[in-house]
Amino acid sequence: MFIWDGSTGRTISDKMWIDNIIGGNAMSQRDHWGEVYETKSPDAVSWYQPTPIPSLQALDRLHIAPTASVIDVGGGASHLVDHLLARGFSDITVLDIAAPALEIAKARLGEAAAQVHWVVADMTQWVPGRSFDVWHDRAVFHFLTEEGQRAAYRKALEQALAPAGVAIFATFALDGPEKCSGLAVRRYDAVGLAKALGSAFALVADWREVHVTPGGGHQAFTWGVFKRV
Ligand SMILES: C[S@@+](CC[C@H](N)C(=O)[O-])C[C@H]1O[C@@H](n2cnc3c(N)ncnc32)[C@H](O)[C@@H]1O
Repeated sequence: MFIWDGSTGRTISDKMWIDNIIGGNAMSQRDHWGEVYETKSPDAVSWYQPTPIPSLQALDRLHIAPTASVIDVGGGASHLVDHLLARGFSDITVLDIAAPALEIAKARLGEAAAQVHWVVADMTQWVPGRSFDVWHDRAVFHFLTEEGQRAAYRKALEQALAPAGVAIFATFALDGPEKCSGLAVRRYDAVGLAKALGSAFALVADWREVHVTPGGGHQAFTWGVFKRV
């Protein structure tokens, strides 16, 4: 049986339709996240932080200078970009699958948004055209539950991380939530994260953080910092 898909104007099979519903392909991921940012207040989502203290502490801990180029992968409407600009960073890229998320951040920043490179892309399909000194991913990699998705992500990381660059990851810890935003996640400890990123990257530091959501919930995160081998 075939079903009309209004979003693409094409007929799709039962299986494809089910995949769309359960988030099994890139189109549905984009739609899912777009809807989240279009329907929820930015300060009401579970991952909201008025100040991304753990990320800023990570940059301090690694002595990252404002001359470094930074990409916030799956940055959404995060306030990290605001703080990077305030600290004098001048080469900032924010990438997200959801255009509405980036629009929220741009509107908040006003004229300063013009100083930032905004990229709407799916990390599992993105081909980076340049390199970055700092790769930051808070709560994005853990949504990649299929090995094929993680392989595509690794490929982008391998292409884009500068030779002396650092990649900073925060994923749900092994005792963290099993889902986020209604989607299943894959949880990690530092060793598991290192394994998932593959032999091209070495773990140089890791720590644990408990994020308190706007609703007062507690979410355990694993933070890991990686360099090229
Ligand atoms: C839990 S939110 C975290 C947002 C942000 N990193 C923060 O800390 O506030 C996950 C983000 O990843 C984005 N995302 C999910 N899958 C993605 C993908 N395949 N490619 C790019 N962005 C993705 C979502 O749109 C969302 O903004």
